[in-house]
Amino acid sequence: MIAKIAALHRSAGQFVRLDLPAVELAELQTLGYEIETHPHFGYRLTNGPERLMADDLRARLETKVIGREILVFEETTSTNDAIMRMTQAREGLVVFAESQTKGRGRHGRSWASARGKGLWFSVLLRPKFPLPRLTVAASVAVARVAGLDAKIKWPNDVTLDDRKLAGILTETRNDVAILGIGLNVNCCDEDFPIELRKVATGLSCTDRPEMAARLLIELDVVYAQAADDFLTISAEWARLCTTLGKQIVVRMGEHRIEGHAQALDEDGALLIRRDNGQIERVLGADLVVERI
Ligand code: BTN
Repeated sequence: MIAKIAALHRSAGQFVRLDLPAVELAELQTLGYEIETHPHFGYRLTNGPERLMADDLRARLETKVIGREILVFEETTSTNDAIMRMTQAREGLVVFAESQTKGRGRHGRSWASARGKGLWFSVLLRPKFPLPRLTVAASVAVARVAGLDAKIKWPNDVTLDDRKLAGILTETRNDVAILGIGLNVNCCDEDFPIELRKVATGLSCTDRPEMAARLLIELDVVYAQAADDFLTISAEWARLCTTLGKQIVVRMGEHRIEGHAQALDEDGALLIRRDNGQIERVLGADLVVERI
């Protein structure tokens, strides 16, 4: 069935000839696929299901690593937790949840993850490159999919009009990296907790499955680039990043660093030049940005 769903998606709104017995057609319609039939030309997908479905997403991908296996939960605590329970699984496993009851962000903050209001998912990876590159690469992938006006705010936010659109939480467990991404989609100000209403935003996109597939495809591209050609990724990151070139203050535990955000190094760490010329190398995961 996956091959048939893939053929319908690939035909991009055109009729396609398929061996689709009535019982299979009915099954697809029950799942939310709207399919026009023609006695000579075959079948045409006019609308897809709004729900995320593993087979549907798989059918849209031809990726090397990301999404080789996909699970979609109706609800879970946090998709990062879900992956933590499956660290033996094959690299590239993606877990989506339609809603998370304990979605979390960096520094133990909570992450609002209501049903239908975004894409909440995590990917199991075993990168053969320094881990900070992963968050850098993922933010580039999210920004590419979000479109021309998206920017990156170091260390891990993707923004639109200066408001946070997506967050990335990379964690490790048993030698695997867990890349957790939350992208707000189809939501309005009222969908966010009061304190976030002026600083968070979402993409208007009616087709979450399509957006999810595009994101996985882009993540697959940048994952390979992060290994072989990190310079290209970091150059794109630098073009998109609103933090570079600014005077910033970061805190790492007791340690406070103020200086000029200068560049990324080859590991994906940020180089900050203090006023006395000294260069500090800081990793996004360890710190709190106090001021940009
Ligand atoms: C941040 O900006 O602080 C990071 C937010 C990361 C949210 C995503 S949603 C999917 C995955 N599961 C979680 O609990 N968190 C990440």
